Amino acid sequence: MLTSELRQKYLDFFKEKGHSIIPSASLIPKEDPTVLFTTAGMQQLVPYFIGKSHPMGNRLTDVQKCIRTVDIDEVGDNRHLTFFEMLGNWSLGDYFKQEAITWSFEFLTDEKWLALDPKKLFVTVFAGDKDAPKDEESIGIWQAQFQMQGISAEIGKPGKDEPTDGKEGARIYSYGKKENWWGPIGETGPCGPNSEMFYDTGRKHDPDFGKVCHPNCDCGRFVEIWNDVFLVHEKKADGSFGPLKQKNVDTGMGLERTAAMLQGKDTVFEIETFAGIFDALATLSGIKYEPETPNAKSEVQKANKSLRIIADHLRAATFIIGDENGAVPSNVGQGYIVRRLVRRAIREGRRLGIDKAFTDKVALVVIGEFGYHYKELETNKDRVISELKKEEEKFGTTLEKGLKEFEKMMKDHVIDGKEAFILFSTYGFPLELTQELVGENGGNLDIAEFKKEFEKHQELSRTASAGMFKGGLADHSEETTRLHTATHLLHKALRQVLGDDVAQKGSNITAERLRFDFTYGEKMTPEQIKEVENLVNEAIKKDLPVRFEEMSVEQAKGVGAVGLFESKYGDKVKVYFVGEDKDAFSVEICGGPHVARTSELGSFKILKEESASAGIRRIKATLS
Ligand code: ALA
Repeated sequence: MLTSELRQKYLDFFKEKGHSIIPSASLIPKEDPTVLFTTAGMQQLVPYFIGKSHPMGNRLTDVQKCIRTVDIDEVGDNRHLTFFEMLGNWSLGDYFKQEAITWSFEFLTDEKWLALDPKKLFVTVFAGDKDAPKDEESIGIWQAQFQMQGISAEIGKPGKDEPTDGKEGARIYSYGKKENWWGPIGETGPCGPNSEMFYDTGRKHDPDFGKVCHPNCDCGRFVEIWNDVFLVHEKKADGSFGPLKQKNVDTGMGLERTAAMLQGKDTVFEIETFAGIFDALATLSGIKYEPETPNAKSEVQKANKSLRIIADHLRAATFIIGDENGAVPSNVGQGYIVRRLVRRAIREGRRLGIDKAFTDKVALVVIGEFGYHYKELETNKDRVISELKKEEEKFGTTLEKGLKEFEKMMKDHVIDGKEAFILFSTYGFPLELTQELVGENGGNLDIAEFKKEFEKHQELSRTASAGMFKGGLADHSEETTRLHTATHLLHKALRQVLGDDVAQKGSNITAERLRFDFTYGEKMTPEQIKEVENLVNEAIKKDLPVRFEEMSVEQAKGVGAVGLFESKYGDKVKVYFVGEDKDAFSVEICGGPHVARTSELGSFKILKEESASAGIRRIKATLS
C-alpha cells in the first residue's frame, strides 16, 4: 500500500464514522509563540478540548505535518524522523475509549482497511500513579477485540514477560507516565493517559537493550504506530492535575511508520516516498542506499546513516521553508533549526563525497513527491530552492576550512567555549554540529561556556540570543542543568562500581537525555547497570547539596577531584561538590551550571549501555 493510499484510507475510514476532515495546520504555529513547531495533530485543537465549540463539529480527522526536533539525534535508526506526517482523529467531548479503541483495531486489522495481522499487534496502557488510576477500562476493551480474533491477549510485565508470538501469552503491557501519558503541549493544558499500538517487525531482539524484549524496548523490534490519548485531565501551573469538563479523544498515527509496516519494511526510510530522494543522492554521490540487513558491513551502515540523515533533514527543511508560514535559515527561532538541518545535511553529503551544491536538487525531488498533497510546496518552490542555494553557498565555502580548524582544536580532546564560538561565528558551525563532531572524536564540549561567549560577543538583545537557542539546548536549560548534575553522579557511580580506571571520554546533553562516554574494556552486566542506577538514585534521594569552590589545580587534586584535561585550565578551577565537604559523593572539576540540591533530579534511569569505540563504552540515561 502506497503512503498516498494510506492517507486516503484513513480519512475515508473516519469519514465513515462521522468525522469531518479538517486541513493540516501550518508547521509554524503563529498564534502560539511558546512553541517553535507543530509537533502533533492535536496542537491546533487545544482550545476545543477545554470547551470551545469547533465549526466542523465534534468528530474531526486530518493528516498533519509535524516537526519533532527532540529526536534529531536518533535520525538514522529505523524509525525516527524530524519531519513526519501524523494521521489523527478526535472526539471533542463526544465518543470515548470504547469507540476509539474499537475503531483503531478495526482500521488496523480489518480486511477492508489495513489488514495487518492482529498477532503482530501489541498494545500498552497507563499503569496508574498518584495522579490517575491504572487504565483497566482500556485493557478490557483491547482484550475483547483480540478475543474476537481468537487471541487471548494476556497482560505482561515489561522486561519480564516475553511478548507472545502466538494466540496466547503477553500482548498488553502497562507503563508509567513517561511512556503512557500525553501532554500537555506546553507547561499547562489538556493531557491524559494513552494507549499505544506497536507492530512487531519480526526483527531479532537485541540483548544490548535488556534481557527480555517488550513493546517499549528500544532495540527496534517493535515500532509504535498509533497512539490513542484520552484527554480528560488538565495540568495546572502548580504541577497538579485536575479534571477537564469534557472527555476527549486525541489519536495520532505515524504515516511513515505504518506505511513501512504495510510494505513489509522494518525501516521508515525504505517506504516508496524516500526512494526518489535516495536515487537522486545516488546520482550525486555514486553511493546507493542499500536495504539494511542485520549483518550489513559497517561501511554500508555508515553510508546508509549519512543518506538517511540527508534525506530526513532536507525533507524537513523543504517543508519548513515551503510552509505557508515558512521560515528561512537564520540564527533565531525556527530559522536556526532549518540552518542546523541544512548544514548537517551538507556535512553528511561531504562525507559521501558530494562536493558540489546538492541541497536544492534534493528539495526538487521532495517537492515532486509531496507537492500534489501539500500544495504550498509547489506555491513556494522558488523560495525553497533559492534559500537552500544561498545557505549552501554560505556554508559550503567555510565548512572545509572549519573542519581543518576543528581538527587542530581537537588535538587536546576538548573544545572550549571560545573555540566552539570561533567555529560558530567564523565557520558557521551550528553549536550542535560542533557537539556532534566532538562526540564522534570522543571529546568534551562545555556548552555553558559557549553560551557565555556567545552572549559576550554578540551583544545581541536577550531575545535574539534566547531565540537562537530555542529548540536547541538553552531552550531547555533547566532540564540540561539537571542532566548535567546527573552526569556527575553517574561518573562517580561508575567509578564506584567498575573501578577507578573509568575515565570520562565525552559527554553530550540534550533536553531529553544525557550521554556519557567512558573508558572501560567490556560490556557492563545488567547487574552492574542496576547497581550504578541505584547508586545515583540513592544520591538523589539523600537530597545532597551541590556547591562549588574555586581553587588551584593542585588543591583540586588534593581534595580528590576528578576532572578532564587539567592542562587546559588556568590557575584557578571550579570544583563542584555533591554532598557535604568531607564525605561528598562526587567532587569534580567543572564549569557548571548545576542544580542546588540533588532531589531536584527526580528519578534516574539508564536507557542504553553500548560500545562507542574500542575500549570506550557509552551510556544514555534520562531523568523523570
Ligand atoms: N497527540 C498524540 C501524539 O502525538 C496522539 O502521540
